[in-house]
Amino acid sequence: MTNFPLEEFKALRTPFYYYDIELLRKTLDEINIHSNYDNYHVHYAIKANVNAVILEEIRKAGLGVDCVSGGEIEAALNAGFDAQKIVFAGVGKSDWEIELGLQHNIACFNVESIEELSVINSIAHKMGKTARVALRVNPNIDAHTHHYITTGLAENKFGINLEALDNVIDLALNMENIKLQGLHFHIGSQITINEPFKILCDKINELTAKYAAKGVTFKTINVGGGLGIDYENPSQNPIPDFKGYFNTFHENIKLGDNQELHFELGRSVVGQCGSLISRVLYVKHGTSKKFAIIDAGFTELIRPALYQAHHAITPIAPRVDAPLTKYDVVGPICESSDCFGEDELLPQLERGDFIAIQSAGAYGEIMASQYNCRRLPMSIYKR
Ligand code: LLP
Repeated sequence: MTNFPLEEFKALRTPFYYYDIELLRKTLDEINIHSNYDNYHVHYAIKANVNAVILEEIRKAGLGVDCVSGGEIEAALNAGFDAQKIVFAGVGKSDWEIELGLQHNIACFNVESIEELSVINSIAHKMGKTARVALRVNPNIDAHTHHYITTGLAENKFGINLEALDNVIDLALNMENIKLQGLHFHIGSQITINEPFKILCDKINELTAKYAAKGVTFKTINVGGGLGIDYENPSQNPIPDFKGYFNTFHENIKLGDNQELHFELGRSVVGQCGSLISRVLYVKHGTSKKFAIIDAGFTELIRPALYQAHHAITPIAPRVDAPLTKYDVVGPICESSDCFGEDELLPQLERGDFIAIQSAGAYGEIMASQYNCRRLPMSIYKR
């Protein structure tokens, strides 16, 4: 569990992100221990957090990177990742982004449509390059997560539908500047049970067997990301169950000789190592409610406002003998959705108290905005 150095915090302007680098290292160790098979490759989904200190740890741990934009490819290269360990996904790649990937000979483009495939082929042709490609398949699996972060259902915009796959594979195999090397899947995010991953394995086995019978094999199978974290009890469960996750694949997926299994984990890598630290500005007594108005808002952490997500809200130095009181913990932004929790039962709060909003390492700092002309938050590290 992360301990918060209150005295150090008192000298700082809030809100800011506090990253427990020691916890990040332990998390990366767990990933490496449980994915320790020669043919398993873990790529970090850099969209979760591009903080340079965090990227340095992830690079040192030997992970590759999953990018979804040219900007993310640049961030990965600037952080010293080898282009051979970069994969590039995304449903709407612009021409300059495709050029950037080809120029650096990245490991793989995860392609989401036949239209995109033709564009990559013609740009690669112009540049005298061959693009290594995996086709993103939409497997139509319900990941039982929030509908905003479900991606593998037929109704979602992602991937190539199963009915169209035969045709796209045929076309890809015949494109001069395309080297078809894999299939890619991603069924959603914040998945906290292993069952959907098992169903994904079954689906993949079915598909690879079908294509093997036709003589088509794939060097890489990429199962995407999605492993969830415990937002309610981050202190009890600071590291996700990587053992159960990787075992699910190990026990259920059938890989051919020399076939590689790729993973793209984001949230489970960095989620628990980050907290948003904020001061209580005012305790306001409404007609029927008490509001703890803090100096962090959805500009620093948008997940509660955007996905109705809940992050544990922990006073850093709780008054031990004070009665527990219910507060709506809200931010300063001029919108009612700027609320981190309703009826939070907390030890009595006063102006100046420090609060940690936990499990904010993934999709926190990177989704910050300057709405209301707010300053972007700084970051502090525990190493
Ligand atoms: N691979 C692909 C193709 C993805 O679209 C994503 C996430 C990942 C991997 C990484 O998934 P993870 O391991 O982090 O679940 N902003 C939202 C989450 C959006 C996830 C988008 N795709 C949130 O704050 O919950």
